[in-house]
Amino acid sequence: MSCTPATHCVDLQPLHTFALPAKATGLRVIRSSADLQEMAQHQQAGERQILLGEGSNTVFVEPVIHATVWKMGLTGRQYLGIYNQCHNIRVMAGENWHQTVEWTVAMGWGGLENLALIPGSVGAGPVQNIGAYGLELKDRVSAVHAFDLAKGTGCSFSLEECQFGYRDSLFKSGYPGRYVITAIDFALPVAWQPMLGYGDVAQRVKDIGPTSPASVLRAVCAIRTEKLPDPAVLGNCGSFFKNPVIGEETALALLKNFPQLVHYPAGQGLVKLAAGWLIDQCGLRGFSTGGVGVYSRQALILVNQGNGQAEHLLSLVGHVQEQVHLKFGVQLEPEVNLVFSVPTRQEAGLPGS
Ligand code: EPU
Repeated sequence: MSCTPATHCVDLQPLHTFALPAKATGLRVIRSSADLQEMAQHQQAGERQILLGEGSNTVFVEPVIHATVWKMGLTGRQYLGIYNQCHNIRVMAGENWHQTVEWTVAMGWGGLENLALIPGSVGAGPVQNIGAYGLELKDRVSAVHAFDLAKGTGCSFSLEECQFGYRDSLFKSGYPGRYVITAIDFALPVAWQPMLGYGDVAQRVKDIGPTSPASVLRAVCAIRTEKLPDPAVLGNCGSFFKNPVIGEETALALLKNFPQLVHYPAGQGLVKLAAGWLIDQCGLRGFSTGGVGVYSRQALILVNQGNGQAEHLLSLVGHVQEQVHLKFGVQLEPEVNLVFSVPTRQEAGLPGS
């Protein structure tokens, strides 16, 4: 079906936090297993279905998207009890992530506080294994529950089966578009230990008071509020690119030319670079073109200044990638999910791009 005024196109602009103008052919909300069954039937009939949480990691990069968008609307939180020395909780995919973190801390179950203020829904978390301030979602997950659109049945994945990596998982790279995450089981250690090793988290906590899940949460919120733009005020989707992971030898060669290069060990002879630093060094922090730009306080974040169009964003992305490649020989890859008019090869489950 094409998107013409006669098909009553759905406005996607308020449904994704980068807020580019875009329209789709249909919009549904997932509220029950019957909705999931229906979504599976359409998918199996070859009709394109796009799953959306709160739209904070999805950018619609063409004005017309030939697809039905399904917004996750399953809500609820449940305490499962203490076992394996952990508080175990189950949270449905449509719950808001930050409110869930605040709820766990208010209930006295520490463990998620470093991930406070990450925008989006709970169900989106495992897809890209969200992470911040030394903690990743995978460190607190015991199982992920999902609906398999290919089979039309529910299923569950253990931590190992999720194949979590840096901003990656089975749901993102293995089988994109196949599974609808419906709920997550978290295991939060009863013997809570603070994680204060990243940046100035430790100092900020000290300034607030005795170390507790609540003081860490407040510190993380303060740091994020200072550095990251509020999507309600300035359209954005957090870090736009992944921090690139390169071989140790390449990193050593780069360090000779750029002794200040921000880098972290990434295991197995690999080194992770700070993409924000690379972009900043190209003089692009604060750069803008056609209503979109590189955020002035954190170069890894691209922003919609209010009147940005998809074509402007795609040209900015290309410009940033080109400048970083020219200066450092490093290829930046988007961390966000870019949705085009028709499915990409990856979305269609085909190899290559
Ligand atoms: N830097 C600059 N200039 C900039 C931005 C960063 O020099 O404009 C330098 C910083 O000084 C620092 C380094 O780059 O030395 C890293 O910056 P930062 O601590 O802000 O973290 P990041 O690597 O840019 C990652 C995550 C964030 C997460 C923070 C904190 C990715 C893609 N991003 O950003 O996650 O909040 O670490 O843990 O891994 C997100 O994924 O949406 C997100 C915001």
